[in-house]
Amino acid sequence: MNYKVSIIGAGMTGSTTAHWLAEREIADIVLVDVVEGMPQGKGLDLLEAMPIIGKDVYVVGSNGYEETKNSDVVVITAGLPRKPGMSREDLLTANAEIVRKATLESLKYSPDAIFVVLTNPLDTMAYLTMKVGKLPPHRVVGQAGVLDSARMRAFVAMETGVSVENIHCYVLGGHGDEMVPLTRHSNIAGIPLREYLPADKLEAIVNRTRKGGGEIVNLLKTGSAYYAPSAAVAQMVEAILKDKHLIVPASAYMQGEYGLRDIFFGVPVQLGRKGVERIIEYTLDEEEKAALEKSAAAVRESIRTLHSLVEI
Ligand code: NAI
Ligand code: 2OP
Repeated sequence: MNYKVSIIGAGMTGSTTAHWLAEREIADIVLVDVVEGMPQGKGLDLLEAMPIIGKDVYVVGSNGYEETKNSDVVVITAGLPRKPGMSREDLLTANAEIVRKATLESLKYSPDAIFVVLTNPLDTMAYLTMKVGKLPPHRVVGQAGVLDSARMRAFVAMETGVSVENIHCYVLGGHGDEMVPLTRHSNIAGIPLREYLPADKLEAIVNRTRKGGGEIVNLLKTGSAYYAPSAAVAQMVEAILKDKHLIVPASAYMQGEYGLRDIFFGVPVQLGRKGVERIIEYTLDEEEKAALEKSAAAVRESIRTLHSLVEI
């Protein structure tokens, strides 16, 4: 029996996630969106590409949730993206209601699914999914760290000329301007990044990484990034379905790890068939701890606002 992945929100990130997943041939795919005809059209178009790329994947689009029945993984991308000048937090009010509904409708048809959340503000929306769905923490994970770390890896590759495969970067914290690129833990083929690059170059990369999402928004002007975010989601979905026990930076529910409680936050997590199998705790120095605490404060503030908007 094939695995089934439903993607709620068939816009830029949703449809591109479907594309990356279809290429991997790991699951049949359902695209759901409120726009009439659009998910059906994108689903059929992608299905018609399968003979060309030689993948036996069934893809279908719908405006309802019946088609999503018995999904193994539900990916939530439904919601508004940023426009120039907007922060991710500016999306909170509009997206909270969309994500609340997407979670509850999905659960009606797939009560055992693992949820991968992408909608912004990311950590708060993942929190909302877990709370409104009354889900155990291991069944909800938010995508942010794979993307933020990939941006940092790309910038390091551009600076050094070394293959991206040799570059390992770890960006933790909330998916906002206070995210924490951990330069001490990042390395090129085992050589600490701090030894490989002069301090000013490394600082420039850290700053560009923090503003990476905004850089794309300012270039696109009509929306936000989608190729890299969707590739990140596809990697996480694959890790879950294939039970890979893959460790990636992602947003998970904190229950005392890193001294944090009752927020979703970007930390190294191990992903497998049950979702979040484990949260890995790095040994951090005082500066890193302070940076994470600053980032956590921003996520806490966002969750406080969420509580004033939605009963959870
Ligand atoms: P988009 O506007 O291209 O697609 C969003 C889709 O959601 C639209 O097609 C819209 O019709 C649909 N939608 C709205 N209400 C819905 C509902 N109630 N049910 C089902 N579908 C609904 O936006 P894009 O670029 O796909 O971004 C989606 C979200 O993902 C945004 O909130 C964006 O900020 C976030 N994002 C998060 C990233 C991360 O790293 N966590 C990276 C990139 C985007
Ligand atoms: C990004 O970082 C929009 O959060 C999204 O590109």
